[in-house]
Amino acid sequence: MDQNTSPYVAHVFVCTNDRGGVRKSCADNNSPLVKSELKAAINANGWKGKIRVSTSGCMGLCAKGSNVMIYPQKIWFSDVSPEDVGGIVAALESLMT
Ligand code: FES
Repeated sequence: MDQNTSPYVAHVFVCTNDRGGVRKSCADNNSPLVKSELKAAINANGWKGKIRVSTSGCMGLCAKGSNVMIYPQKIWFSDVSPEDVGGIVAALESLMT
């Protein structure tokens, strides 16, 4: 095993866990669209290779979903819906300056 430091300035995890309405889950707020719009914004801003967006499974705060967390900065957005992507992009922009 090799231990390394992350190659990214920021790594954005978007929970896309979907319980199909049986119980609250992040996909209820269309988190797959949040993820795809974040990826598009990162590409459009030229941040590819510096900011990585990854799908996450459940992060334990399902009732507050959708959840998006940014590491290593320990930023956590809850109650996220696609309309909030601009605010997350603004937070990422502040990390890139
Ligand atoms: S379903 Fe997203 S945090 Fe649990």
